[in-house]
Amino acid sequence: MKSIFLKSPAKLNLFLKVTGKRPDGYHNLITLFERIDLCDDISLALNRQGKIRIFSNHPQMPKGSKNLMYKVAQMLKKDFQCPWGVDITIKKRIPVAAGLGGGSSNAATTLLGLNRLWKLSLTRQEIVHYAQKIGSDVPFFVYDASWALGTQRGDAIKRLFLKKKLWHVLVVPKLKVYTYKVFGALNLKLTKKKADVNMLHRALGKSDLPAVSHLLLNDLETTIVHLHPNLLKIKEKISKSGALNVLFSGSGPSLFGLARSKAHAEQLAALLNKDFSQVFVVQTL
Ligand code: C5P
Repeated sequence: MKSIFLKSPAKLNLFLKVTGKRPDGYHNLITLFERIDLCDDISLALNRQGKIRIFSNHPQMPKGSKNLMYKVAQMLKKDFQCPWGVDITIKKRIPVAAGLGGGSSNAATTLLGLNRLWKLSLTRQEIVHYAQKIGSDVPFFVYDASWALGTQRGDAIKRLFLKKKLWHVLVVPKLKVYTYKVFGALNLKLTKKKADVNMLHRALGKSDLPAVSHLLLNDLETTIVHLHPNLLKIKEKISKSGALNVLFSGSGPSLFGLARSKAHAEQLAALLNKDFSQVFVVQTL
């Protein structure tokens, strides 16, 4: 096998409850992940000189050891004393540092791809272990699941077998929000203690859109808005456009509006396109 072509999808968090701070500095979470059809394209080609190289259409993307795909390749190459390298070519569509898990998804896709390209025969358990080492959001993407529950750091994954597909309008403000800063400024006293992810899970199972809309939650919102007050105005604009509910994904700044249908999502996007440059219509993948 000389090269592999893979899709690397984004995610939204429909529910993100922070349950406490851990001794290792991270936070315990309960999160409900939705995989969406906004994808980067990745190709992995065998590099016979043993080099790890990254080629990207995104000028600001790091090409060295700061890049999570590079980290994955370097780690596997070392641990398995692999003589080969890899040329990774990525076409970025998922906005960077936006709360959409783009970098984590790229890492997961690279992990799964190199397992095949370098013929490593990693077990499912080993893949999950490597994914957890790279970052909290990486394990979700190695499961090939449209829906999943994440606990602990968000990295202990339980697949949810739901048939429901949702439509959203997604607005990505041109502003970088750093996950560690949001968690660092979080006031645990302001988190919603009573919110229950099982209620949202059940509402999704019953395709009860009003209930789904009512049960969306993100405990990081108060902190995101405290750090970047302008984002509240953007949230209000999306609400006024007629979305059923609006939520930040992960640590933001991406905001998604829940829509009733594809037509509804497109109608919302047409309105929001007048004010924002990065507006997407997305569906569960
Ligand atoms: O795991 P990842 O590298 O994506 O996390 C980035 C930062 O976000 C961490 O360094 C930590 O500050 C914060 N974080 C956290 N609790 C989590 C996930 C992330 O505190 N469950």
